This record gives sequence, C-alpha cells and structure tokens, in this order.
Amino acid sequence: MSFGFKPVYQASSSIGDVQYIPGSMSIDAVKPIFGTLDGIEWKLPFPILQPVPCQHGNGSIETHTRIIRADVLDAWYPPSPDVLRVLKDVKALDIQKTPGEADSLKAALSFERTVPQSNIIVGPGSSALMYTVFPLWFKRGDRVLLVTPTYAEYPHLLTSLGCVIDEVHEARDVPYHMLKTTYAGIVLVNPNSPSGNHIPHLASTLLKLPITTRVWIDETYIDYVSGKSLEPFAAKSPNVVVCKSMSKIYALSGLRLAYMVGSGVQLEAIRERVPPWWCSTLSIKCGIAALSSQTYYVQKMKESRSNLEFLKEELESIDGVRLIGNPVANYASFILPCDIHEFMDTMKQKHGIYLKEAHGYPNAVRISVQRLEVCGYMGRVIKNFFLHLSLTK
Ligand SMILES: Cc1ncc(COP(=O)(O)O)c(C=O)c1O
Repeated sequence: MSFGFKPVYQASSSIGDVQYIPGSMSIDAVKPIFGTLDGIEWKLPFPILQPVPCQHGNGSIETHTRIIRADVLDAWYPPSPDVLRVLKDVKALDIQKTPGEADSLKAALSFERTVPQSNIIVGPGSSALMYTVFPLWFKRGDRVLLVTPTYAEYPHLLTSLGCVIDEVHEARDVPYHMLKTTYAGIVLVNPNSPSGNHIPHLASTLLKLPITTRVWIDETYIDYVSGKSLEPFAAKSPNVVVCKSMSKIYALSGLRLAYMVGSGVQLEAIRERVPPWWCSTLSIKCGIAALSSQTYYVQKMKESRSNLEFLKEELESIDGVRLIGNPVANYASFILPCDIHEFMDTMKQKHGIYLKEAHGYPNAVRISVQRLEVCGYMGRVIKNFFLHLSLTK
C-alpha cells in the first residue's frame, strides 16, 4: 500500500498465498517510481518518463527580434540568388504533388561531390538520417566511441538507444583510441563542433578498423577545408559512412536537407527504411540550385574565414582570453578569464549577443561568425566588458 496505492473497494480474492486487491493510484504518482525500475517492461498506456529533448543552441530564435545569433552555426549569409529565385518562383504544383525519389538532387550531388549517385541517400536534415541509421546499426549495450566534445544530438541519440559511450577528447590522439578497442561504432564530427578543429589523414586509421565497426563521420563543415572530404572513401568502404548536412554551408537550415555517402552494401539496408518521398519538392529544387551556385558559396566561405580571423584577433588581444585549438570553420571557442554565466548573461541581456557554452571545455564559450560589421561590434562589446571588469577589480 505504499506509493499512494488506494484500494477501490474492500473485496479481494486469493489464489494460494497471494491476495489480489483491486486498487488505483494516480499516473503522476506512479511515473517516477516505475521510471527508476530499469529493465522492466510495464506495458502501460502512457510513457513512464517524458523523453528528454536534445538541447540545441538556438535559445535566440523565438524570444527576441533584434539579436545576434552567435549561439548557432547557421550561415550568416542568405542562400544563393539562385536558391532565392527558386523560392520566388514556387509553383502550386511544387506543393500540390508528392515529390519523387530526389534523383535530380542525387545527380547534382554526384556531380559536385564526385561520388556515384548510387552511393548517396538524401534526407530531410542530418538528424533524420542519423535517427534512421543508428537504430539499425546499434543496439542496447553496444560500445560506441564518441569523439568529444561534440554536437549534442550524438550523445543524446546514442544514450537513448542504450549504447555504452566511450568518450575520447578531441585533443587526445583520436586515431590511437579508435584502434585501441574493438567498438560497435565510432562517431565523430570533422571538423568538430564546438571547437572547429579538423582531424586530418583519418583514412589510414579507418582502413585498419575491423569492418564490424560502423563509423559515422559528420562532415557538415568539411567545405571549410576543401579537398579533405572522406566521401569518396566512404563510397567504397564496407563500414564507413559520411553524413553531411546542407543546412550550414548552403544556408538552408529551414528547408531541411542532408545526404549521406556510403558503399552499396551499406546503403542497401538503410534504403529499406527510407521513404522515397522523404524530401520536399521545394527543398530538392533549392538543393540543386545551391549545388550549382558554388562560386557564390566559395566566396561566402572565404568571407567567413576572414571574419573569423578578425574575431579571433580581437578576442585574443584580451588579457586571459584563450582560443581553443585551431578552428577552421565559421565558429571558434574561447576559454574566459571570468565567470562564464556573468559574461554570457551580460552579452545576451545588455547587447543582444547570444553565445553558447562550449561544453567539454572549462569556462569556455563558442561564438559563431557573423558579417564583418557584426563581428566588429561583438569584438568591441566583448573587449569593453573585460576592460570594465579590470577597472572594477
Ligand atoms: C555537426 C553538426 N551536424 C549537423 C547539424 C545539423 O544538421 P541538420 O540541420 O541537417 O539537422 C549541426 C547543427 O548545428 C551540426 O553542428
């Protein structure tokens, strides 16, 4: 009768030594109790624990209108003029009819990324791809090596699948740790987020892994280190897959578009779980337009890199601020010589600058590149914060 269980009426019946008493208790009272009894399948008509959502950085999106969204890694520039033209000329039929298998987008990707079309699967964002593939690859109790700190979606998904996560910090010798133990899977983001560091020459390590080790490489930011993509490698590999979101470089976050590259054997099992009409007609058309606008995007990435260099110089000129690693993409992380919460709150509340804590590093923030004037503004505001802090000490 503990836990708030109440008999509904006095009648009871017995079978042998066991007495059965009909009773009731509130769902709210029972949930936490059942939730702690791991491994028991209760078959109740309600979820025992509320699923924990993955935490993204975009606290900025809904709450403010005039803000600097330096907490997310979305592009600071708009999609290419060709993409905007597609959106402007959208036809009723684009929305009215069910899209097909996105062959035209796969053909454009195949041409642009120099991998055969049959080695590509497209999906509505990289989360859709990873949430489809990981449950096929991994089961409860599987050991997975995760290079950390990393994009929060990965520990979130692997934990929810019941995998045992071994972490290796990106500053350690990652190739050595990949080979040290036989894992069911290895997951890494390259270039990484939050640091922006790129691990070079992974192919030779990948070749030494047992083919039973599934490797997922997230190359969302790879275009910032041109020529280094492992897509051609993955297209021939029995166990390595490369996933790339088209959200960031192509400024298409809101349209949801991503693709993965792997060998035929690998993709066959995944295709069975992928609906043929997964991506919308509009996102397919915009994806193709983006892929044919390389000159525009290469120029934008160049500007991003130069804005990042400017921002780095501004921040590194502040006493005690320390850059983490060697960031190559459109963001960087810094260790702060002051209380991180005071810093982030002041930036947000006083100046509308949203930043993200760089989890996995002590007292560090991640800042994403904006257009040059905004980087200048952020640099000035941050410098003034520390100047004021040193004067009031
Ligand atoms: C490493 C990495 N992969 C993927 C994504 C998001 O991809 P998508 O918008 O395709 O779900 C992000 C977003 O921040 C990211 O940092």
